[in-house]
Amino acid sequence: MTRPTRSWAERLAARQDAIDAAGRRRSIRDLDAVGPAGTLDGRPVVSFASNDYLGLAAHPAVRAAAADAARTHGVGAGASRLVVGARPAHRALEAALASWKGTEAALLLPTGYAANLGVLTSLADADTVIYSDALNHASIVDGTRLARARVEIVPHADLDALAQALAAHPPERAALVVTDTVFSMDGDVADVAALAALCRDAGALLVLDEAHAVLGPELPESLRHAPDIVRVGTLSKTLGAIGGFVAASSQIVDLLVNTARPFIFTTAPSLPDTAAAHAALDIVRGDEGTALVGRLRAAVDRFVPGHPSPILPVVIGDERDALAAAQSLLDRGCLVPAIRPPTVAAGTSRLRIALSAAHTDEQLAQLHRALDALGLAPTPIGAEA
Ligand SMILES: Cc1ncc(COP(=O)(O)O)c(C=O)c1O
Repeated sequence: MTRPTRSWAERLAARQDAIDAAGRRRSIRDLDAVGPAGTLDGRPVVSFASNDYLGLAAHPAVRAAAADAARTHGVGAGASRLVVGARPAHRALEAALASWKGTEAALLLPTGYAANLGVLTSLADADTVIYSDALNHASIVDGTRLARARVEIVPHADLDALAQALAAHPPERAALVVTDTVFSMDGDVADVAALAALCRDAGALLVLDEAHAVLGPELPESLRHAPDIVRVGTLSKTLGAIGGFVAASSQIVDLLVNTARPFIFTTAPSLPDTAAAHAALDIVRGDEGTALVGRLRAAVDRFVPGHPSPILPVVIGDERDALAAAQSLLDRGCLVPAIRPPTVAAGTSRLRIALSAAHTDEQLAQLHRALDALGLAPTPIGAEA
């Protein structure tokens, strides 16, 4: 028997040393909060870090729905739904999601991450070229890799470059275009109508990841039923719960049920999570949801009028400077995470402000004062390029 020359302990220590040498060691802090206000490692803070954009994670009706579901139906779903069966709550939420998105069908998965892996690995194969925006989320990047497809990275939000790439597409292969509709670290948005038109002309399937699309962009009404558009969403941001979903044609959803490994080989979402997401969706689709979106819109406009999403980047550049800026904001009671490589490109480290309808006027004013005191301001789209 030959043993490896280096032990696991040595290998792991070398990896940690490399992380330390690059100044990229991360650690998890302790947050105690209901809604934006709470304590971080024991110090009072207002969080501008969460994707709970409408404040539904702590909404009384959402909390009550989760608690009722646990009391009435229990907690865990027990197994994959292909093994153990779907509970009425799963079916009801899928029907509501399909109705919300205007698609024939919807399928729940454990997370948005799993939903992207499921869609890309089921729909694309070695015979497919995937055209993927350069700033797409990591779950899309991982999905394209797992699909074993040929992947072409398209310059960010560059419709001309995409059109050129599609014009050169090898006709014997399938074409799939995938993009975030709101880019999670830049807060800018894709032109979904133009993308849909381009993909239609090219015979390409369009996969839209709408994880952060609380203020839009909306797909035009005429395209909501389109069989060649697949919408991926999450229950964990606007809906304040946990889980992911795919909304698409029945044909595509049926294929996912039969082939999507992140659906087949994992336990179905828990019953309290499913009920919480459904209660949140009911709120979003009603008058209260419209009012919450209006509140969020006003909060965003207070910082950058007309900005299309609740994600406001403050691009700093150097990693250490971004960390120092985040610490200075924290010293002023504002939790705003520093985002560094590998999440964003080297030299574009930034603060990522995420606003919520749950932020009070005073909390927003506190952030304003803190940014002003440090001479910082959100970086308008494109200014960081
Ligand atoms: C664009 C995008 N897609 C997918 C996900 C994954 O969603 P989830 O947190 O539900 O796994 C995220 C964030 O986490 C995201 O920003």
